[in-house]
Amino acid sequence: MSAEENGIAAPGTCRKTIIAIDGPAGAGKSTIARHLARHFGLLNLETGAMYRAFALKALRKEIPLDDGEALEQLARETSIRLEPGEEANRVLLDGEDVSGFIRNPAVTDAASRVSVFPAVRAWMVRLQQQVGVQGGVVMEGRDIGTVVFPHAEVKIFLDAAPEVRGQRRYEQIGQQASSPAPPPEEIVRDLRARDERDRNRADSPLKPAPDAVILDSTRMTLEQALAAAEAIVVEKLGPAKQVC
Ligand code: DC
Repeated sequence: MSAEENGIAAPGTCRKTIIAIDGPAGAGKSTIARHLARHFGLLNLETGAMYRAFALKALRKEIPLDDGEALEQLARETSIRLEPGEEANRVLLDGEDVSGFIRNPAVTDAASRVSVFPAVRAWMVRLQQQVGVQGGVVMEGRDIGTVVFPHAEVKIFLDAAPEVRGQRRYEQIGQQASSPAPPPEEIVRDLRARDERDRNRADSPLKPAPDAVILDSTRMTLEQALAAAEAIVVEKLGPAKQVC
């Protein structure tokens, strides 16, 4: 069996692939991105974590989240680094590992608010292009296939009905949190508010790239969604696994 048939790229055929995964909150982007990264031997980069880290800094400094100029100034004084990890990414905010502080509801809401400002987005996009430029990555976010890497070889737009996303989030929080999860209706309400902001902002709103494959996981189990995402990648790239 050749290396290709074995699922391993033959020497010299290694592709520096970029897989872009975009979609609304709670659609399962992180789970699918992590799976694809492991399966195809790529790095997994979560751009939402970068917006979250910046939002955390704005909250800590008590900068009003609607003050675009102050946020632009803050961006100039901020360093954010994203490091791939086994499970989730490590996010370094001015050198401090803030990965454990960016998933709470206040930061989640603030990240969606600070991300509407063009100067903040332009800065983030530059950073994301720097980390992904070598290829060999699965990058997930809202504008990866449209703005950050419009020439990505594979673009998946992952979607699911809001009620289903809310229910999944509820179960996820229930498994992780030490305190009880908010009721599902409240989670769905927050998801809808965030969707609304992410989809309707003037600068790089959340929308599928024209050449993205839409994967709606509303009626899929996790296993089915993972298999469907894998099939999309294989369809675009062929069966060889990325090994560089
Ligand atoms: O993927 P996430 O939930 O961690 O993202 C948090 C917020 O960051 C999201 O509400 C919108 C913003 N975001 C963005 O505008 N563009 C990205 N590429 C990633 C996230």
